[in-house]
Amino acid sequence: MSKGTAVCPGSFDPVTLGHLDLFRRAAAVFDRVVVLVMHNEEKPGFLDAETRVRLIRESLDGTENVSVRSASGLLAEAVRSLGADAVVKGVRNQADLEYEADMARINLSLGAPETLLLPADPALRHVSTSNGLQLFRLGADVSGFFPPAVLKELVSRGEPRA
Ligand code: PNS
Repeated sequence: MSKGTAVCPGSFDPVTLGHLDLFRRAAAVFDRVVVLVMHNEEKPGFLDAETRVRLIRESLDGTENVSVRSASGLLAEAVRSLGADAVVKGVRNQADLEYEADMARINLSLGAPETLLLPADPALRHVSTSNGLQLFRLGADVSGFFPPAVLKELVSRGEPRA
C-alpha cells in the first residue's frame, strides 16, 4: 500500500537542525516528502526563497525521497496542486501546538489535507531560526542550531555581529 506524499511547509529562513530532523522523520513515514518554502506574513524576510531552497537541498544529502521547492500564495492551494495526502509540521512546545492547531483547522477549511504534528526531538526543542540568528549575530557558536551549509552562508554574508 502506498504511504503517499507529505508536504512540510515553512519559512525556513534559514533551515535549522530541527527542521532537518522533521524532514527525515517525515521521509521515514511517507513515500515522498515535499519541503515547501513559503512566506510567513508575520515574519520579516531574511534570505530570498531561492537561497532558502538551495540551503535545504545542500543540507539534505542522502535523503532520497525528499524534494524542495518554493511556492507563493495560500499553502492550501499549493498543497492541493501537489496532490499531497498530508501536511506535516513539527511542534516544540505548547505555543507551537496552539499556533499549529489553528493553522491546521484553517488549512483544512481551505481544502488542504489533514495536518499531522510531530513532536520535536527533545534535544532540539530550543532550536529555532530566530534564536539561532540572534545568537550568531552576538558572536555565539551556533553549530548546534544550523547545518554546515547555513553556517557557511551566514559567514559568507558577513552578517553583523554585536
Ligand atoms: O516556518 P513558519 O514560519 O512557521 O511557516 C509558516 C508558513 C509559511 C507555513 C505559513 O505562514 C503559511 O502557510 N504561509 C502561506 C500563506 C497561508 O496559506 N497562510 C494561511 C494561514 S493564515
